[in-house]
Amino acid sequence: MTDNADTQNPGRTDATQMLALYPEMAGKVAVVTGAARGMGAAFTAGLATRGVNVVGADINADQMAATAEEINTALAQNSLADRPGRVVGSSVDVTKAADHEALAQAALKEFGRIDFWINNAGIFPFALVEDISPEQISAVLDVNVEGVLFGAQAAARHMAPGGAIVNMSSVSAVRNRRGRGAYCTSKAAVAHLTQSLAVELGDKGIRVNAIAPGYIDTEMTRWVQDDPVALANALDAVPLHRIGSPEEVFGPMLFLLSDSARYVTGHSIAVDGGSRHV
Ligand SMILES: NC(=O)c1ccc[n+]([C@@H]2O[C@H](COP(=O)([O-])OP(=O)(O)OC[C@H]3O[C@@H](n4cnc5c(N)ncnc54)[C@H](O)[C@@H]3O)[C@@H](O)[C@H]2O)c1
Repeated sequence: MTDNADTQNPGRTDATQMLALYPEMAGKVAVVTGAARGMGAAFTAGLATRGVNVVGADINADQMAATAEEINTALAQNSLADRPGRVVGSSVDVTKAADHEALAQAALKEFGRIDFWINNAGIFPFALVEDISPEQISAVLDVNVEGVLFGAQAAARHMAPGGAIVNMSSVSAVRNRRGRGAYCTSKAAVAHLTQSLAVELGDKGIRVNAIAPGYIDTEMTRWVQDDPVALANALDAVPLHRIGSPEEVFGPMLFLLSDSARYVTGHSIAVDGGSRHV
């Protein structure tokens, strides 16, 4: 694994400890897709630590169940979580609208309400635009774009007033790199869809925002970390010269969900070490 220590700030506070607690979030209910690993798992753990009950859902049901159990066990031993939430693992294929409805029903049955919905599940096919197959193009648009739209539809139907949706876009929405044409297109669509959703769902008092991460340390970027040339190129394009951690993305996520952001909607927050400017 790449060392993601912040060498410019060696005394830097641990990312988990530095987060504001947002006490108003305790007792609320969140749905997080793609929660079996990576950023989705970090969002799920972080929210539960702050007293939010979470239904974490993933296409990989076994890994989701293991992650939920791991987080619940850690919460029981975590001194930060004096009023922890509970995590329930569920399965979802975000390309299926009916799965989102079932997920919403599961959250309502388990916890009685839905306050937050994080459309996080995503895939990253690496292929030059000349070579990419119709199947790869369909898959990335189905998961990354339709998955967000279907999730927002289910959330809008069932959310409590004052609810908040956050979609996962990417720095790729505004930057182009070889081999990422379809992925960049899908994430640009998510950024735009976020604005359209914010305009329409504002009528119901629901806020919709996006997070646009840069290069974050998860399984999705393992191939970069395993290739010294790709890694050097990636870090060259990050003004802060290091990979980000999922916990560093959770901070802005928490802000967007919280009452501190109650007049913020239709916005994408870049969490990318500045890489959108390079
Ligand atoms: N890691 C990065 O550097 C980075 C940068 C920018 C944006 N993102 C975006 O952030 C989100 C999370 O990325 P990550 O790095 O944690 O990825 P990851 O690959 O570690 O995790 C993605 C999760 O989504 C799940 N998933 C995939 N297809 C699904 C489907 N059809 N239905 C339900 N679940 C499905 C996977 O099983 C997996 O658990 C994605 O939308 C990704 O595009 C990641």
